[in-house]
Amino acid sequence: MPDPWPSLDRLALRHPVVQAPMAGGATTPALVAAVSEAGGLGMLGAGLMSPEAIGQAINEVRRLTGRPFGVNLFVPEVHRPEPDAAAIEAMADLLAPWYRELASTVPARPLPPPPDFRAQADVVLAAAVEVFSFTFGVPEATMLRAFRDRGCVVIGTATTVAEGLVLAEAGVDAVVAQGSEAGGHRGTFTGTFERGLVGTMALVPQMAAALPLPVIAAGGIMDGRGIAAALTLGAVAAQLGTAFLATMESGIHPMYKQAILDATDEATAITRALTGKAARGIRTPLMAAIEQAGIAIPPYPVQAALTAPLRRAATRWGRTDVMALWAGQGAGQGAGQARALPAATLVAALAREAREAIADVADKPL
Ligand SMILES: Cc1cc2nc3c(=O)[nH]c(=O)nc-3n(C[C@H](O)[C@H](O)[C@H](O)COP(=O)(O)O)c2cc1C
Repeated sequence: MPDPWPSLDRLALRHPVVQAPMAGGATTPALVAAVSEAGGLGMLGAGLMSPEAIGQAINEVRRLTGRPFGVNLFVPEVHRPEPDAAAIEAMADLLAPWYRELASTVPARPLPPPPDFRAQADVVLAAAVEVFSFTFGVPEATMLRAFRDRGCVVIGTATTVAEGLVLAEAGVDAVVAQGSEAGGHRGTFTGTFERGLVGTMALVPQMAAALPLPVIAAGGIMDGRGIAAALTLGAVAAQLGTAFLATMESGIHPMYKQAILDATDEATAITRALTGKAARGIRTPLMAAIEQAGIAIPPYPVQAALTAPLRRAATRWGRTDVMALWAGQGAGQGAGQARALPAATLVAALAREAREAIADVADKPL
């Protein structure tokens, strides 16, 4: 039977496993390359990297593997709200004691802007990376066309069917359906994030039914059973983030890894506190202090810039109470979920478990 999705067929994946792009250092070139070498799709989370650093990381992945891999970027908002100076100063005052405790200082205003999206994309385009994926919005048509003309598979992120349809209309090759269980930032780009909190189990079949495109399921998938479920619901592949955070090649702090292994099903929450954009992570005292202060949280990327040096200092000091511990609801060694394995071993285990799960279900009386 011909593959119904020739765009993804080009990638010749041996396993329907995408390692989620994770900005902030988790998706090291070693992790990306190991996943692609093992027959999944490795993805570099480059949203916070300078164009130069992206170019170097791409070269490093290429040195480690000849297999296809992808790069992911953050689409900036078209209408960025003017930052409210008084709200920024109030937040700076709130954060100051935390900064002092970690021997660091609140960044000077005006705050540094995020990396230039167009310059980042130019590097990815020039390198002709096999997959370009993005979140937080939709790049302009000329950029998407340029990637497709280069033979890149283009993948967008949607948290609702309506967003999936916007991406399909824009001409992407596939859509990541990001359920509310997902770790990290919500990809929601239309309406409020609350409206985009649809669980993976509900979102994937509706997205698969509505879109004339392959759907990749993301959110709360930690093992082969979850992948089998995603495929059963109509996805062509599953994108796993938290599961890969605990692998040996992941670049996160060892104490962050341990926090994921120790997490329970109720350990995470969605918060705007750390970056100004809704994101799911393990609850921390810093998150609670910002939420409970009763002051306005500046929008992304302003709040992200205000807390960035603090989060970096927390990582230097190994202070999990101040780090951003992004993780999905599936984290939790207690449930036999996140596993500290080499990434290639995890990919092989996921594929084996998915096959076993499907065989197990085939034996059940229905
Ligand atoms: C630490 C972390 C960082 C993330 N960074 C990105 C990112 O840069 N770009 C992106 O599209 N998604 C990002 N995500 C979301 C993932 O793509 C994916 O939706 C999510 O990990 C799936 O849920 P799971 O963590 O339960 O597997 C991130 C997730 C985590 C946990």
